[in-house]
Amino acid sequence: MLHYFLPFDVRIWTVLAVLAGVYLLRPKNRSPFPFVNKHPNDPFGKKASHALQHAAGKIITEGLTRHSGPITIAIPYGVKIVVPASLASWVKSNKDLDHGEVVKEDFLAGYPGFEALTTLLSEDEVLKTMIRTKLSQNPSTIATMNSSLSNGLSDLWGEKDTWHEIDWHKDTTGIIARAASSVFVGPEKANDPEWLELVQTYVVSFFTAVNQLRAYPPWSRSIVQWFLPAPTTCRKLVPRARTIMNEVIIKRQQEAVKVELEGSPGPVYDDALTWSQAANAKAQAGDIQLSLAMAALFTTSEAFRQTLIEIARNQDIIKPLRKEVTEQVTAHGLTISALVNMALLDSVMKEAQRLSIALERIASKDTALPNGQIIPRGSHLMVDSTDLWNPAVYSNPDQFDGYRFLRKREAGDTSSQFVQSSANYNVFGGGRHICPGRFFANNELKLALTHILLKYDIRLSDGCDPKLMKIGFYTMVDPTVQLQVQRRKGVEGEDLLNIEV
Ligand code: HEM
Repeated sequence: MLHYFLPFDVRIWTVLAVLAGVYLLRPKNRSPFPFVNKHPNDPFGKKASHALQHAAGKIITEGLTRHSGPITIAIPYGVKIVVPASLASWVKSNKDLDHGEVVKEDFLAGYPGFEALTTLLSEDEVLKTMIRTKLSQNPSTIATMNSSLSNGLSDLWGEKDTWHEIDWHKDTTGIIARAASSVFVGPEKANDPEWLELVQTYVVSFFTAVNQLRAYPPWSRSIVQWFLPAPTTCRKLVPRARTIMNEVIIKRQQEAVKVELEGSPGPVYDDALTWSQAANAKAQAGDIQLSLAMAALFTTSEAFRQTLIEIARNQDIIKPLRKEVTEQVTAHGLTISALVNMALLDSVMKEAQRLSIALERIASKDTALPNGQIIPRGSHLMVDSTDLWNPAVYSNPDQFDGYRFLRKREAGDTSSQFVQSSANYNVFGGGRHICPGRFFANNELKLALTHILLKYDIRLSDGCDPKLMKIGFYTMVDPTVQLQVQRRKGVEGEDLLNIEV
């Protein structure tokens, strides 16, 4: 009896399994809102995708105007729902709209070599708590970054007092990587060439790996990732980072035993490696370091690069900036108070960041909009950020105005500081997921720029006119910039940076 039914059962189960697979792997393209980038005779969405790559801002603005409400945009292998900027505060405060799921989906969590992402998304929140508490307004980080920046600039930008061009990508990411590493990894590895190369290569390889994998259909990615170059690099670097960090931990433990036996005072470590160990983080120390690098390096380096471009392009802002940083460091030393009071520099940094779209969520269940329309569970939601370039919101939006946010602040606007988010400025996101690293980024950027303003003249090479790269919804700083620098010698202000803090 059993053997009579078995082949039939197997066939049914096979069909059911295939149907379940097709259902689970189907593109998530349900949306109750009108599609705005669908083209006739475009079954594979190639035309839709091409239009989006080149004119996402225009498609969003026109779509929202035409439909007076949320719209749907087709992207490769799925869709995004874009809601108007007027819903930004609702999105930020809605607990059924999740940020972790966006990161998981967009950055393809779960592949071997992507452990840094797993750590970032970990439910135990050790990493985020550490960033919020230890990294944010901790005076010891200022002293550590100060000396790292002195050495880093001298090594990478040089001491030559004649104009010379820096290596745009390497010598900007290098400055940020060294300053951040001095706080993340501690003195043993902060200047170690192998470690610095490893973290920077991991970050670049990780984002490249995500892009390489996205070019393939979702069902095939777990296979192709074994053969693509960037995922392979990620897989190689994770174990190396773990080994290096474990060696540092063992050395520190041996040192602690030794000083206890000798009764002598040992070195005190004040870095993310120590803090995460003290917090009993479940993730391996190497993974935590790669995770910090992934969250902090690319974002802060891009902000650094765009601010350098705007300062170099607007030479008349350099004198007032130098005056401000000199006054603040003279009054407060190189401290958090000095950095907080650098209001013009803050405005310049915020204006340079007025370029990216950053508020995205996934609905963890069916969620009703304020007007009652339902966003289906699993929908990928974006808030329209085109107000960043809207003349009704920011006058002359295409013009860099270093004083823009300073004027707003002086006029009583309470959301015009670099680290703050507001309804039409979400560069650090908002609500419970707002970037916890923004205070650290703010301190690191202001310190780096203070060093640069006091020690270097900077300018763009003749004929260099940087343009933002717009790729789909996102923007990137021009990768082809030619920035020239020369060391200022014998000028007032520089000695201030040698003050021990
Ligand atoms: C200028 C530099 C930076 C920019 C523009 C930036 C931007 C962002 C944005 C847009 C988000 C998503 C927030 C949301 O959707 O509400 C985010 C989240 C996050 N950022 Fe940053 N970030 C920067 C620097 C940093 C640094 C230096 C760190 C770490 C030291 C960091 C750690 C994180 C973490 C852990 C999250 C996830 C928060 C969560 O899911 O709750 N970021 N960042």
